Amino acid sequence: MLRKAVLLSTLLITAADCSSQHVVERADPDSLAHVLLSKMTLRQKLHEMHGRGVVKFGLSILISRKVRPVKAGGDHKLGIPPTIFLDGPRGVSLRKGTTAFPVTMARGASWDPELEHRVGVAMASEILALGANYSGAVCMNLLRHPGWGRAQETYGEDPHHVGEMALALTNGIQSLGVQACAKHFAVNSMENNRFGGDFIVSDEVLHEVYLPHFRKVVNGGVASLMSAYNRLNGEYCGHSRELLTEILRHDWGFKGYVTSDWQHGLLDAHSGISAGMNVEMPSGRHYSYKNIKRLIRSGEITEDDIDALVFPTLRTKLLFEQVRNGRTVPCSVVGGAAHRALAREVAEKSAVLLKNEQAVLPLDTVHVRKLAVLGSLAASVETGDHGSSQVFATDVVSPIAGIRAYLQGSHTAVLTTLGQDSIQERSVASICDAVVVVAGMTWHDEGEYIGRGTIRDSLDREPLNPIVKVGVLGRGGDRRHLNLHPNDIRTIRTAASVNDRVIVVLVAGSAVTVEEWRGDVEGVLQTFYNGVEGGNALARILFGDVNPSGKLPFSVPKNETDLPPFHPFSSSVEYGRFHGYTLFDNKGIEPRYPFGYGLSYTTFSVSAPEMSQHTLSESDSLHVTVQVRNTGDRPGAEVVQVYVGFPDHGDDTPVKLLKAFRKVLLNPKESKAVTLTVPVSDLARYDAVSRTWAVRQGDYRLLVGNSSDNASLHELSFSVRD
Ligand code: BGC
Repeated sequence: MLRKAVLLSTLLITAADCSSQHVVERADPDSLAHVLLSKMTLRQKLHEMHGRGVVKFGLSILISRKVRPVKAGGDHKLGIPPTIFLDGPRGVSLRKGTTAFPVTMARGASWDPELEHRVGVAMASEILALGANYSGAVCMNLLRHPGWGRAQETYGEDPHHVGEMALALTNGIQSLGVQACAKHFAVNSMENNRFGGDFIVSDEVLHEVYLPHFRKVVNGGVASLMSAYNRLNGEYCGHSRELLTEILRHDWGFKGYVTSDWQHGLLDAHSGISAGMNVEMPSGRHYSYKNIKRLIRSGEITEDDIDALVFPTLRTKLLFEQVRNGRTVPCSVVGGAAHRALAREVAEKSAVLLKNEQAVLPLDTVHVRKLAVLGSLAASVETGDHGSSQVFATDVVSPIAGIRAYLQGSHTAVLTTLGQDSIQERSVASICDAVVVVAGMTWHDEGEYIGRGTIRDSLDREPLNPIVKVGVLGRGGDRRHLNLHPNDIRTIRTAASVNDRVIVVLVAGSAVTVEEWRGDVEGVLQTFYNGVEGGNALARILFGDVNPSGKLPFSVPKNETDLPPFHPFSSSVEYGRFHGYTLFDNKGIEPRYPFGYGLSYTTFSVSAPEMSQHTLSESDSLHVTVQVRNTGDRPGAEVVQVYVGFPDHGDDTPVKLLKAFRKVLLNPKESKAVTLTVPVSDLARYDAVSRTWAVRQGDYRLLVGNSSDNASLHELSFSVRD
């Protein structure tokens, strides 16, 4: 420790160009990094450019389920901290006993950045307690199609919403001095072909649809980004100078570093170095001393190129060491009571009530004396996929266990059947006062594809990766269909044929189509892989201790054909401007449930908005105020959503885009004034020729309400003029 302090102060003093203590104290990470770089040998620099310890990493998962983190760089003598990486998006992954939070998509459905910030702090504290300093939690790709296998790892379909949520997580993580890694840069959104898939996207669509959320976390100071496996316009993202240097550094001024994704994120050293890839993860397969020395000798690259890549990594690591300021966290926080309570709070605040006819929910123990709990997932503990984000949490509460624990001591009995046998289900459902069917997806249906490392074979003939073979990780992949499995549909219909209080609880990573059975049931609650406390949260929602306040972070179509084409095995796909609600708006098609939609056990009114100004210039901000009132008799939370409609919408312009939102908690009959702000600069469009943004002058529509459903939105207009 002392040695480190002495080394650091030597560096600080050397960094300063005069000897006064005052100057020494002002030395910033950039000057420190410059000094370090000037002292380092090529070998020392290359040590900062790749990960190490991947064999131990793999073996530790296989043998003890206690991952030994992969590290990158670090030089004790020079006082450079190593980067120590722990994934993942729903809590520290692959390490027994950590907290499984509800998946990112659930947190997206909470529409609650303050809550997400707290999740970030909790995740970072588990990372610090486990001796690491770098988090792979911020997965923030846009959900173009709900069939994407890794949908559960991101927040939803809208760039503004994804950006706000990802920024909150990043800030939470980084507030403790843990570096966040935002991934996967960019356009990653299909799984089966993740190593070879090529997305063809115009510059305008790339900048306006697929990148704004990444730009937001870059502006917010994210330490690092991970490149995507896929290709973009023909080029691997890890080799793309356009993405990693032109956009990231020149256009956006990014000062952190980029790492490659782990399996095939970098295919050769020269391409990575020319593109601006700072660190190869998880090992120096391409960024080896031998390879780089050869490239320098042949004149293909220079040592200055290496310096330019090492500098951002050094300055970022030094900066975060300063923020961390020696903070340590006791191991007791890992999987501890406070984090379980937070996981439950997230599960409670993210459930989306889609249907509640005859106020079937909440249930009450006076009228419901016998409750049937059926469905393929009633007794299973689904915390999400079995890929790199798998959390080995202990004591995960299943739906039925949570309901039973809740009802203990009451006069309500819980009845169930095993094996989804229709005859038994019918007889149980017919003697109960209400039926809850828990149905949906599992890690067999969707998730990160962990295979041998090539494109997944559509016939699943590929030899298994050893970790998959022994069952620690699962293969995952894109979903084949968006509807429920036939056995669950049968259970729902069986229950509905004999009981008129049937509630379907959906569990999935994103949208599930409901057309085959929606009309037969009274209640539908969309939930997600809900973490370690999922069953307890569900019970509290069903019985009304918690009022659902989640809103869909994606649109649910009536038919899959209403969505953009999605073929998990295609090698090249053209991505247009529209998907999700922008596509429904553009085609004039009604979704089954719109983006932003969600009911409550109470009712709300949102008044017509008042605007600060009706005519604005590009440097102004529009302030929109509404009165939100809880018109029912239970406390509840509503999400006010502000959309802006653009002039001349058509083939190349969306009808409307979400530009601000706020979740508000209200007691019965309480009313609150809520002001949301839209900077006019947020309405700018990208010009690919000049690589600049400009706000079009003209008349815009302001649409305010509690979902993206056009019919329910209040509408006003404003103008943007010079
Ligand atoms: C995934 C990343 C993950 C990495 C390390 C990759 O296969 O795509 O999201 O962070 O593995 O676990």
